[in-house]
Amino acid sequence: MDSIYGEHRPKMEQSLNEVLDHISSIRFDLKNKNGMDPVEHCLYRIKAEDSMREKCRRNHLPENEDSALLRLHDAIGVRVVCAFLSDVYAIRDGLRALPDITVTDEKDYITRAKPNGYRSYHMIIKTRQGYFVEIQLRTVSMDTWASLEHHMKYKKALSGNVELFSSELKRCADELASTDVSMQAIRDLIFEDNR
Ligand code: GTP
Ligand code: MG
Repeated sequence: MDSIYGEHRPKMEQSLNEVLDHISSIRFDLKNKNGMDPVEHCLYRIKAEDSMREKCRRNHLPENEDSALLRLHDAIGVRVVCAFLSDVYAIRDGLRALPDITVTDEKDYITRAKPNGYRSYHMIIKTRQGYFVEIQLRTVSMDTWASLEHHMKYKKALSGNVELFSSELKRCADELASTDVSMQAIRDLIFEDNR
């Protein structure tokens, strides 16, 4: 079967690398400015063929290049896991300020968490070459929760008290969010002292 990305894959990889370079330089500048690396780690991927085809079917779109690259916006994905809440917003501001990319959508699931407790800052950007990239910015706590929830959401429907599991997961998400706020306050105090 032909690739759902047609002949675009090499250019998609180029676009992904450009975005990663941008993130590295934003990270470098913030590290010099604040004396601390804002990024814990960064993950990226081009969505696998089978997942992209599955997503097209789920969204009632034909399984073709147009759907994969223009109708859906996460063929290229980057996840930036930050130390502190302020780092999430600093990286966001750095991305917004880039001259050769356009931000086409932003969802602040930090200020407005999803009902299940999911938190992250999502941006869709468009590169010079015209490819969309989904960027997820989150703290280590948010990332931990999202990973564990992702593992469990496929299992929980099979076993027992779904409502209890959901409300306990939500409680954990909220506790982690309040810890993020406390850690930020501690960080601000420490850095204030060092000035
Ligand atoms: P998708 O069809 O899932 O891509 O959702 P969407 O197009 O409505 O976009 P949204 O911004 O809601 O979610 C995009 C991505 O964020 C998902 O593919 C996941 O990686 C992540 N995400 C969103 N909601 C959740 C959630 O409840 N739990 C976890 N673990 N991840 C989530
Ligand atoms: Mg997605």
